[in-house]
Amino acid sequence: MAYLIRGARAIDPQTGLDGTRDVLVEGERITRVAERIDEVPEGTEAIEGEGKVLVPGLFDMHVHFRDPGFEYKETIATGSRAAAKGGFTDVATMPNTNPVCDTGTGVRYQIDRARAAGLVHLHPVGALTRGEQGEQLSEIGDMVLEGACGFSDDGHGVQSAGMMRTCMQYVSKFDKPVIAHCEIEDLTANGVVNEGHASTRLGMFGWPALGEELEVWRDIELCRLTGCPLHIAHISTARGLGYVRAAKAEGLPVTCEVTPNHLFLTEDDIDDSYDTNLKVNPPLRTKEDAAALREGLVDGTIDCIVTDHAPHAAHEKDCEFEIAYFGMIGLETSLPLMLTRMVGTGELSWERLVDAMAIAPRRVLRLEPASIAEGSVADLTLIDPERKVKVTPDFIESRSKNTPWMGAELEGCATDVLMAGKRTLADGVVAEATPGLEDERGFMLA
Ligand code: DOR
Repeated sequence: MAYLIRGARAIDPQTGLDGTRDVLVEGERITRVAERIDEVPEGTEAIEGEGKVLVPGLFDMHVHFRDPGFEYKETIATGSRAAAKGGFTDVATMPNTNPVCDTGTGVRYQIDRARAAGLVHLHPVGALTRGEQGEQLSEIGDMVLEGACGFSDDGHGVQSAGMMRTCMQYVSKFDKPVIAHCEIEDLTANGVVNEGHASTRLGMFGWPALGEELEVWRDIELCRLTGCPLHIAHISTARGLGYVRAAKAEGLPVTCEVTPNHLFLTEDDIDDSYDTNLKVNPPLRTKEDAAALREGLVDGTIDCIVTDHAPHAAHEKDCEFEIAYFGMIGLETSLPLMLTRMVGTGELSWERLVDAMAIAPRRVLRLEPASIAEGSVADLTLIDPERKVKVTPDFIESRSKNTPWMGAELEGCATDVLMAGKRTLADGVVAEATPGLEDERGFMLA
């Protein structure tokens, strides 16, 4: 199949491209990029790009697809639909499934399922420790062989500094990052909201900033000791961000990510309606923290925007705040929020947005770059910055609907996505799953 994306503003900070271009895609690859393309193969389908922005395929390097084990919340197939709807060509999935993804077989299962759904390139993150129990190293080498892109016990911090040192020493041999969920459970025990004004006002146990910051600091020191690339997951505090800034200034291989939740919501948003969709781990922090995170994103201290897409069933959220599960979904709302709240207001440049949502995740995970260039794999996202979005249950493709943004009116979203030259989103509509081919072992190929 061939596509001609016509007349979009093409932005690719990797090559310095920012201008109106026609882009021809044949099969899996981009075959021409030019100011105007008149000659195309017969049967080429045109995609109108005028007034839109074409960027390398968006990559969300922190999602939970719950498959295997919690398919009632999300499956790889439904999560893939949510990703395509949000404009993503790639996701990295966290290992806190059941069983935990801590073997090569677990990694292979996810990749095969995603290829069968055929809507997104899925890169599994393997568990650092067996069962995410923090006690024994998991099968790191085996998982690397099967395609794990990094390692994390996301959902938990690795409590023992000695164990974390062992993990980082071992992973450092594979040129993959350790993705650290930073949480000292002695300090955060029972906490459900930020410790401080929110916990006092709401009369609930606090989850202190220190519970995250001490472990950010510890893991940076372990990065210095072991040389293992360290990526701090869902950073939420100004002080923790300061540690990352200092580590980067020293030249340590430290990177970090932020969620739209922590950029645009604060502890003040949790009011006496006790919306459990606002219960996330780490918790929503102060407005000063959120402002510092936005500044860190603008100045490049924060590398990646991720969603921490954390689907939960209605009965797991429709209950008292204390017992509700942590997490909110985010794949469909991430780009519209970023466009509405930061790019549209002029606070964040398109170049920084594209770097944080498409380029940096591949860099952090040591994957092939995606570029708007001849010969590149055609992973592309076409964005209409003016298209109005109303977040409704119908707009959400995820199996779970736990978002505090339900009802929100936003401006700007992805309209079309090509994943390795396959159109997974067409004018806002997700394509039907079309399985790829199987190889001689019966594994899905593409
Ligand atoms: O809010 C969260 N939910 N934070 C995490 O770290 C894990 C996630 C989940 O798995 O639900």
